[in-house]
Amino acid sequence: MSPFLLTRTLPEDATEAALRADVLRGLTDSPKALPPKWFYDARGSDLFEQITELPEYYPTRAEREILIARSGEIAAATGARTLVELGSGSSEKTRHLIEALTDLHTYVPVDVSESALTQAGHALIAERPALHVHALIADFTARLALPETPGPRLVAFLGGTIGNLLPAERAAFLSSVRALLSPGDALLLGTDLVKDEQVLVRAYDDAAGVTAAFNKNVLTVVNRELGADFDAGAFDHVALWDAENDWIEMRLRSRTAQTVKVPALDLAVDFEDGEELRTEISAKFREGGVRTELARSGLELTHWWTDREDRFALSLSVAR
Ligand code: SAH
Ligand code: AVI
Repeated sequence: MSPFLLTRTLPEDATEAALRADVLRGLTDSPKALPPKWFYDARGSDLFEQITELPEYYPTRAEREILIARSGEIAAATGARTLVELGSGSSEKTRHLIEALTDLHTYVPVDVSESALTQAGHALIAERPALHVHALIADFTARLALPETPGPRLVAFLGGTIGNLLPAERAAFLSSVRALLSPGDALLLGTDLVKDEQVLVRAYDDAAGVTAAFNKNVLTVVNRELGADFDAGAFDHVALWDAENDWIEMRLRSRTAQTVKVPALDLAVDFEDGEELRTEISAKFREGGVRTELARSGLELTHWWTDREDRFALSLSVAR
């Protein structure tokens, strides 16, 4: 059996320093905001997996449908021997792709969630013992040091997670992905598509309240890591569609005027009654926009596949 390697590319204290910097900046900013990567401790990763099974949350099912239908074509077009997956989470949908990539030598899942990487890695090794799995605990927005593995390389970024980056972050991110590729290597990108507002809002404000719990989990993370005293019950979950920017915005709205203390930062943060803290954007796309953004980063879109209901797209682009 091939070994399962788990490499932490950032020392743990760097992660803590990044959280401190993000919380200090985000809670003293106006309007207040926190980056979505801090949702994903073990509980946040578990809540995200529950979201993927909700009746209202269609992206995972739609993307899985495309992967089942198109993995053979993706394998034929790329001939990938190394698959790098950014924000891999449970790697659950990726199994369809891994199965189709008959020449695959190494799978490199990259995530900030150690619990997700460990669970996914062990499950994969059990299923496909000859596959090398080299998991990386790393921030995909930072410069990635990938292991030396055989090409061609296919980088997958699934789930629509690119939509969680702001437009400027997206451009920087795509350029850094391009820098990981040699000519002929490819990027497989999942993008959720613009659609009816009600369908979108329901996907981010489900009846069972799982997305609300996921949203509030960021407060639990800040409490645990920085000793803060956020009361999750004193905030309401908000999901709204921003038609100007084509994105869903998740926020936490203070139910009252309150002061939250963050001892590790020697900080006291005042919230007005009704004041909102932005916790995530989830941008939705159209084919032309995706093609243009990829081209600006030196990637040529060669395939565009959607599910039967045109809700979600997978695109394949190549480095020239
Ligand atoms: N790709 C999976 C999981 C999507 S959830 C799917 O399609 O279902 C988003 C994943 O990205 C989570 O596992 C989260 O831990 C990870 N993530 C979020 N921000 C990240 C960052 N900046 N760097 C690395 N991983 C990140
Ligand atoms: C990971 N990412 C693509 C999810 C999304 O849909 O933007 C995260 C999420 N937020 C709320 N529900 C799911």
